[in-house]
Amino acid sequence: MCGIVGYIGDKPVLPLLINGLKRLEYRGYDSAGVAMIDQDKIWYKKRKGKIAELEVEINGFDLTSSVGLGHTRWATHGEPSEKNAHPHFDTEHKIALVHNGIIENYAQLKETLKAEGHVFASDTDSEVLVHLIAMCYDGDMAFSIRKALQLVRGTFGILVLSTHEPDKLFAARRGSPLVIGIGENETLVASDGSALVEHTRDVIYLEDNEMAVVNKHGAKVRTLQDTKVEKAVEKLPYDLVHLQKGGYPHFMLKEIFEQPETVWDSMRGRLLVEEGNAKLGGLQSCIDRMIHSSRLILTACGTSWHAALIGEYLIEKFAKIPVEVEYASEFRYRDPIISRVDTVLAITQSGETADTLAAVREAKQKGALALGMCNVVGSTIARETHAGVYLHAGPEIGVASTKAFTSQVATLALIALALGRMNQLSAEEGREIAQALKQLPDQIRQILEQASHIEKIAAKFMHHNHALYLGRGFNYPVALEGALKMKEISYIHAEGYPAAEMKHGPIALIDDQMPVIFIAVKDSVYEKVISNIEEVKARGGWVIAVVSEGDKACAKLCDEVIEIPYTIQSLMPVLTVIPFQLLAYYTAVMKGCDVDQPRNLAKSVTVE
Ligand code: G6P
Repeated sequence: MCGIVGYIGDKPVLPLLINGLKRLEYRGYDSAGVAMIDQDKIWYKKRKGKIAELEVEINGFDLTSSVGLGHTRWATHGEPSEKNAHPHFDTEHKIALVHNGIIENYAQLKETLKAEGHVFASDTDSEVLVHLIAMCYDGDMAFSIRKALQLVRGTFGILVLSTHEPDKLFAARRGSPLVIGIGENETLVASDGSALVEHTRDVIYLEDNEMAVVNKHGAKVRTLQDTKVEKAVEKLPYDLVHLQKGGYPHFMLKEIFEQPETVWDSMRGRLLVEEGNAKLGGLQSCIDRMIHSSRLILTACGTSWHAALIGEYLIEKFAKIPVEVEYASEFRYRDPIISRVDTVLAITQSGETADTLAAVREAKQKGALALGMCNVVGSTIARETHAGVYLHAGPEIGVASTKAFTSQVATLALIALALGRMNQLSAEEGREIAQALKQLPDQIRQILEQASHIEKIAAKFMHHNHALYLGRGFNYPVALEGALKMKEISYIHAEGYPAAEMKHGPIALIDDQMPVIFIAVKDSVYEKVISNIEEVKARGGWVIAVVSEGDKACAKLCDEVIEIPYTIQSLMPVLTVIPFQLLAYYTAVMKGCDVDQPRNLAKSVTVE
């Protein structure tokens, strides 16, 4: 949610900032801006819309400055517009600031500042920060920023430059991530590593309540209370090639097609096929505590929440430990009853989602074991949890999550298997599950080969305005995920339901204009799903079904079918979701939608 990039070194900064912003654009994309020090003054440009529009705006400016910062915005306070785009400036135009997060007490602060003669140019909460810093300025920028931030309630990741100290950048965080890239005679700051990786892989992660004073030789970090902090330099776990489309027209399609490899990457070295078991290094130290927990609480948002629902079924089935699944946004505020005998597992691709992070903190506060399942290495949730497991799926750039989801489900299956083998699961059952897990990558490949068939179905689907997705058991969360994918990127209104619930409401919607998408694979609820399909057909609905390979009987009943190979019922979601990802993708492309950056969405939701 919003992207920050800054550079200080010897190179001309403008193209570097634009390039960095493009890498961050997936985080927010309603307006953007850059500022830099040019001949003792702050030069800036802002623009509503995408980075490409800002790029056109600055085209032709040949500035030699090598200190600057930029921002791509996802609006919270104030509509997307040029005046609300960052950077923001103090009244005297000597300080420029970009901000991620939300300043909760901005309204009171703004009143006070106005009364003192500060002139505001935007409707944002962020602008108060720069005026506060100007108000606190007494000849030392670092001191003034620290002092200003003491007055602020809320979350921030900020980057500041000033003509007062033109050879430095100042970065501070509380709640919104910032990472510093250490290069040769150049230092960069960004809200995530993707804006740094083409310059350096050596990074320092800022923690909450820390501030860095950055120059071209590196960064000095102190707490906001002014205590020195020694920071370790870490390595970014990916390189530039992971951030490119690799010949695909969109990141989303690339990421869908990467899934045979990414699912395997999540299991590599962890799945013990011969032993019928799994070993997850990051969880080894607390696996006993997990197994003796009174229950596991899985908490997440969005697509990760759908993976959590499947995790519930997997863990209860294999390990016989009671599991509850909660939206992190609800968990954090409803004062949940949790104690030392509970384990809370936060599932999050980005490791930065504000609600999920708050849920982790709540769980820790109440004494529970707090675990994380993240994709982004070094992310806040990965660092704040007691222990955890990485997905190793590589950077996911498409805003709609695809490969992270299948890796989450595969990793949850590994956890369920490991816990199960410590509980009631026999070695033979363990081996059956492990064998099935091992086959998943090839089976995903088989489904991907049907992309052009699914594209043809999308060509008919795109003319509809609504759709129902129905599944049962392990495939009920897949119905939710299929519907979410469709609405996220094609803007077609889609709802997911457990198939049996159809008769309690959604059936009223069915007529010959309503596509109904079923998951009707051969499992223990197959017959029941077939009855549901009959009910829809009897009312004239247009039925698309994901069915088991060779199921002619079901194919006869449906208007369109997509066949998938057989796996055990509990692992089906890893396969059944693939056609839904492709169906959403092709539908959105045909409708001319911006697949990788759908309207109003952001990849990483770091505000409430
Ligand atoms: C946003 C993204 C979704 C994602 C959700 C949770 O809404 O657009 O794709 O599922 O956040 O993100 P997380 O990083 O916590 O998995």
